[in-house]
Amino acid sequence: MKAVQVIGDALSPHISCNNDLPQPTPRAAEMLIQVHAAGITGDEVTWPELYRTPSRIPGHEISGVIASTGPDYVGPLKVGQEVAAFLTAERGEGQAEYALCSADEVTSKPTSISHAEAAALPIPLLTAWEAITDHAKITSGMKVLVTGASGAVGSIFTQLAAHLTGAEVIALASRQNHESLKRLGAHSVLDYNTEDWEKAATGVDVIFDTVGGDILAKTWEAISDSGTIITVADPPPPWAFGKGPAAESVGRPGVKYIYFVVSPNSERLRKALEFIDTGVVKALNIKTFPFEEASQAWSHAQGRNRGYKAVIDLKGAEKS
Ligand SMILES: NC(=O)c1ccc[n+]([C@@H]2O[C@H](COP(=O)([O-])OP(=O)(O)OC[C@H]3O[C@@H](n4cnc5c(N)ncnc54)[C@H](OP(=O)(O)O)[C@@H]3O)[C@@H](O)[C@H]2O)c1
Repeated sequence: MKAVQVIGDALSPHISCNNDLPQPTPRAAEMLIQVHAAGITGDEVTWPELYRTPSRIPGHEISGVIASTGPDYVGPLKVGQEVAAFLTAERGEGQAEYALCSADEVTSKPTSISHAEAAALPIPLLTAWEAITDHAKITSGMKVLVTGASGAVGSIFTQLAAHLTGAEVIALASRQNHESLKRLGAHSVLDYNTEDWEKAATGVDVIFDTVGGDILAKTWEAISDSGTIITVADPPPPWAFGKGPAAESVGRPGVKYIYFVVSPNSERLRKALEFIDTGVVKALNIKTFPFEEASQAWSHAQGRNRGYKAVIDLKGAEKS
């Protein structure tokens, strides 16, 4: 089968296209998906898990059709059904003609969007949902600030937080994205190019950060003394994975700070994708690249100010 592969290491990754990899076989309760499209999160080439997989095939979000199931699969999904999936951070291997999934990774594809559009959504939907309900417990009336709000995860978070929780959402993004973020539900917007933007938002209950670095550091100015800062940005902050306290936490004992890696959850993904079909959440803007242009697709995915998410077409059927 054809598949994208990452050669080299996390410091100098090289994206290549391989036309001659073995097609996997579903075992036990696994499913084999014929992948039509696979989304790209540009920082994935820095994720250490990729370099531990023998195949070196990247890609954690796919949309396609169930090709076959393992002998022990007894769930509701059927061969031939259109599905979307988030493949666990430990495995990936989604940017291939065929990919394996477990039952907790896969659900029905929304009917109102294409495979390419569906393939862009599992990571942003699950990451935003997990932040909102598991890590922050965001409720109506809370003040929430999202950084990287124009990005894939940030713009889905903006929509879910605004529409599902009734929280007041402040979106941090460059000026050109402010109007579209307001249309997605942001109550107010801040421009990260404005000096001291962090002083304009005070007493914030929850920060959801998708940028990291200086932006994450500045959010400590905006968080309330009993607030929660959540980050998913790459590279993770020095305090992630229990590596000690955040430098900024000195004198702020009431502030909680959390880094997490998104988990598969097929039931949550099903509910979140239903919001696409019902129009509660708008799908992301995408740009589709044919398999042969996977290297260019990855370059685009790693660029700034894109306004779309890059998706690889594995089936040769999608239009950009
Ligand atoms: N831990 C996890 O489980 C998990 C899950 C999903 C994603 N992630 C990570 O989360 C991050 C966001 O993912 P994504 O798919 O949403 O990426 P994305 O679509 O590329 O969005 C990145 C956003 O960050 C903004 N940004 C980048 N650098 C910035 C800077 N220096 N100052 C201000 N804003 C900046 C971009 O703004 P512009 O449009 O202005 O460039 C954009 O809005 C990535 O690092 C990804 O690897 C982690």
